[in-house]
Amino acid sequence: MEDFIRRLPKVELHLHIEGSLEPELMFELAERNGITLPYANVQEARAAYHFNDLQSFLDIYYQGANVLITERDFFDLTWAYLMRCKADNVMHTEIFFDPQTHTDRGIAFDTVINGIYHALRQGEKELGITSKLIMCFLRHLSEEAAFETLEQAKPHLHRLIAVGLDSSELGHPPEKFTRVFAEARALGLKAVAHAGEEGPASNIWDAIRLLHVNRIDHGVQCVQDPTLMIELAETRMPLTVCPLSNIKLRVFDRMEDHNILNLLDEGLCVTVNSDDPAFFGGYMNDNFLALNQALSPNKAQLVQFTRNAIEAAFLTDDERHQLLQNLDDFWASHGIH
Ligand code: HPA
Ligand code: ZN
Repeated sequence: MEDFIRRLPKVELHLHIEGSLEPELMFELAERNGITLPYANVQEARAAYHFNDLQSFLDIYYQGANVLITERDFFDLTWAYLMRCKADNVMHTEIFFDPQTHTDRGIAFDTVINGIYHALRQGEKELGITSKLIMCFLRHLSEEAAFETLEQAKPHLHRLIAVGLDSSELGHPPEKFTRVFAEARALGLKAVAHAGEEGPASNIWDAIRLLHVNRIDHGVQCVQDPTLMIELAETRMPLTVCPLSNIKLRVFDRMEDHNILNLLDEGLCVTVNSDDPAFFGGYMNDNFLALNQALSPNKAQLVQFTRNAIEAAFLTDDERHQLLQNLDDFWASHGIH
């Protein structure tokens, strides 16, 4: 089964590029940029990655991003992630970036997006990994700051597929961003939002009804509301679930308690994703392997996660068909054994 999981073609829809910054690269960039880190070495950094909740993680995550200064830094960060995609048989990935984490430190919006975008294009050419870019607003910041960020993005709209909403969910429900999401959608962008990770099921309703999202990021708290469960199943609203993240941030006590297979059984369009892999203990294969160990899904369920992700991805019909073909070929040759 582990071999099956490693070879399974995958699609990732919930990945914060800043959350893929491994301590090794963090130290390399700190040295390159003359920045002093609060850790003596890589081991000490890893040892500090123990979290009680989302906020205790975010504090460390934003601090780590301070080493990202130049376009080359953002390129190297993104390229390192794409190499992990290659190793894990990820065919297609739709990644988030948090411009405000950088522009608030005096790094130009263009520096950030140019570095990330050029690495994605090179990944497509040299690794055969297709990708899309999603710009997230930090929800602990103001509506005005989000509008400023959308303004800065306007010369780069052709490089973006969607806007997203991340950072501290508790105390920052979706409604503050109703107007900025409306403008983003009017500009032709799709929309996603983190909702129902730590926050209540009502945030999922609000993301759907106020922000008009195409996908919900996390969404595992939907089980609190049976009516919402029916709505999500009937509309096939995708949930980008992140198993290792949910354990590290104590959304569930143990992987054995995770509800992802129940959601799949209820007919929801759930997918498996890595969120912030450098901080949460692994990339796509690690997430699938951890699920396998704790919950013993069958092969058909594992394949269904990729099928759902292909359904949920922001692709043209032709691109979607190609990915489905790859998955069907894999299933035909590995399914029965
Ligand atoms: N939740 C909210 N904000 C985030 C996360 C997350 O899991 N990762 C990075 N920013
Ligand atoms: Zn996330």
